[in-house]
Amino acid sequence: MKAAPDMPAPRRIGGATALAGVIGWPVAHSRSPLMHNFWLAQYGIDGAYVPLPVRPGAFETAVRGLQAAGFRGTNVTIPHKEAAFRIVDRLDRSARRSGSVNTLVFASDGMIEGFSTDGEGFVANVEAHGIAVKGGRALLLGAGGAARAIAASLLDRGVAVILANRTAARAEELARALREDAAPAVEVVAWDDMATALPRCDMLVNTTSLGMEGGPPGDFPLDLATAGPALVVCDIVYVPRQTALLRDAAAHGLRCVDGLGMLIHQARLGFRKWFGTDPVIGPEVEALLDADLREQGR
Ligand code: ATR
Repeated sequence: MKAAPDMPAPRRIGGATALAGVIGWPVAHSRSPLMHNFWLAQYGIDGAYVPLPVRPGAFETAVRGLQAAGFRGTNVTIPHKEAAFRIVDRLDRSARRSGSVNTLVFASDGMIEGFSTDGEGFVANVEAHGIAVKGGRALLLGAGGAARAIAASLLDRGVAVILANRTAARAEELARALREDAAPAVEVVAWDDMATALPRCDMLVNTTSLGMEGGPPGDFPLDLATAGPALVVCDIVYVPRQTALLRDAAAHGLRCVDGLGMLIHQARLGFRKWFGTDPVIGPEVEALLDADLREQGR
């Protein structure tokens, strides 16, 4: 039977199609399927990338099942990144340093490999804005998984890190973990004193949920008036793209880096491992994600 002329050709998924996806709970909000399927189409690769909603507690069963079913690997997002760290057979250095895994690769020898690309994705995004990440000092707000991955990547580039977190004990614990890994250049300042550290810093990085849509209410608790004119202000929040912190930074004439690029750059390694092509990060994929966020009213 002939298809009607205005019907789109059905997408072919066959025995040779390379499969990957993102495991999370919830996972419906993830932009990763949009991004990876865009690259698959762009490069004409026979592959598919799907959202995989997996409840807490079912993570390992799901991973073993996907491996047995022939998937090439998956991304891992909230709340499974620490569970992924525990079950993999081989951890690369980035995963060991960040204590979490966001990219799983099912290797041909049956082993599961774990990578953490958040920190490198952050650095790559800053560098894509024409800002060298090398030496100097960063004030890093937050002490969660993202803070740890980013701190480790900054320290690897000789950037000293000052941590500030609402819950001081978490910042101290993170500083201890980072120092154990041969990184003495880590300081902690009290959350209420973070403005005093700002004049010594070349970079400010927000990894907390402050400013995120649906996040904690209230103004950003940092006055940028004490910042030097060369301060680079980075927010890893990307919904909305223009956070209150970035708006304030722009009003002070400071250079800004928003969080959308980190999302794109952290995806690159997985795509290369699963589908065999290193995707070039161009304006098209950023425009696609930006339009999608806008369509959702964000
Ligand atoms: P992730 O692993 O994604 O980084 P997380 O572990 O939940 O996420 O960390 C969220 C960060 O946002 C934490 O640093 C948290 O501070 P606490 O350790 O004190 O909880 C921070 N955060 C959340 N709500 C906040 C608020 N209202 N004010 C300041 N920091 C907040």
